[in-house]
Amino acid sequence: MLGPLPFRLFANPRAGTPGVVVLSSAGFRRAKTEITGWDGYAPTPLRDLPAIARDAGLGVLRLKDEADRFGLGSFKALGGAYAVANLLASELARRGVAPAATSADLAAGTHRAATQEMTVTCATDGNHGRSVAWGAQRFGCRCIIFVHATVSQGRVDAITRYGAEVRRVAGTYDDSVREAARQAEAAGWFVVSDTSYPGYTEVPRDVMQGYRLMADEAADQWTGAPPTHVFVQGGVGGVAAAVSVQMRARFSPAPALVVVEPDRAACLLASAELGEPTAVPGDLDTLMAGLACGEPSLLAWQELERAAEAFMAVPDEAAVACMRLLAAQGVVAGESGVAGLAGCLLAAADPAARATLGLDAGSRVLAFSTEGATDPALYEHLVGSRASQSIPNPLAGS
Ligand SMILES: Cc1ncc(COP(=O)(O)O)c(C=O)c1O
Repeated sequence: MLGPLPFRLFANPRAGTPGVVVLSSAGFRRAKTEITGWDGYAPTPLRDLPAIARDAGLGVLRLKDEADRFGLGSFKALGGAYAVANLLASELARRGVAPAATSADLAAGTHRAATQEMTVTCATDGNHGRSVAWGAQRFGCRCIIFVHATVSQGRVDAITRYGAEVRRVAGTYDDSVREAARQAEAAGWFVVSDTSYPGYTEVPRDVMQGYRLMADEAADQWTGAPPTHVFVQGGVGGVAAAVSVQMRARFSPAPALVVVEPDRAACLLASAELGEPTAVPGDLDTLMAGLACGEPSLLAWQELERAAEAFMAVPDEAAVACMRLLAAQGVVAGESGVAGLAGCLLAAADPAARATLGLDAGSRVLAFSTEGATDPALYEHLVGSRASQSIPNPLAGS
């Protein structure tokens, strides 16, 4: 259905070995309480894709569709904005302004005099920056966002719409991460990064706790026998790790988790092959801009190195084919949002990969479409038609 197209599959030899608890359940309970209380919160739909499942020789195939998340177009709305709220609350406590401000207090402007003097910043390929800018506007602080050379103007405009200043940096996403950190250090801004590294874990941990809500909703919406497989895309690995933790919390046995990356930016697969986190070289020139990350997030890696059953790398063509396949079903999915499903369909069509992953006509697969048409012009160019509203959800009430 998507191919034949070349892909790589690496079965993780460390899958199932015990490791550290990266995301606490108490932290998730807090995130869930806060985010579900935000104005405009509604679970996104879980869509049943029976025709695609049948053609792929799978029993059940369901897609969690994040296109309408808080009107921001991607699941990232759950992470960055939640981390902004937490960061402002801790800073208010540290300054003796308010010991335990909630995001509702911040949104109501209760501590605006203090928060409007604070600046949050991050590097982004689009979606995370949009979430941080939206959070900054909602919770009342200043915001400066760094983007790298190839981030489209459409994505930049979507960030400035929320009142943030955007600064463009030469090089790749990883260069923009370093530049954001450098300027933040010099100016006393707060970095709200979705990737973690030694010495910087608190904020990205909050980001990932926010992401868990997407997987938690999917578990609530799932009907019938539990999923056997979960396919999810990886950039720095944050969302894959969040999904992994939440699947384990909600299903026993946990479904087999397969992490899918662009073949030009497969740092998680490379790390799994090496047995330790590693960066991949090159300009990471993939159409899947949200997944164009060359270095895994430390926290994400700590979860995925033992919890992922396998890692895959797929070409850009697979993402485009998958966008078109979904468009034909009335589902709008962006180029960075479909890698997981693309990986699933490529593997399902390949006898050796089917055997390695245990995929068969009895498999029940959950995949995540993590963005809609976040760059409408690019979507139209790739799919050949405008992004229309997705069809009403046939399976689970949203
Ligand atoms: C639409 C979309 N899906 C998935 C990801 C990957 O998330 P992570 O970097 O946490 O792996 C991103 C990252 O920006 C994204 O924008």
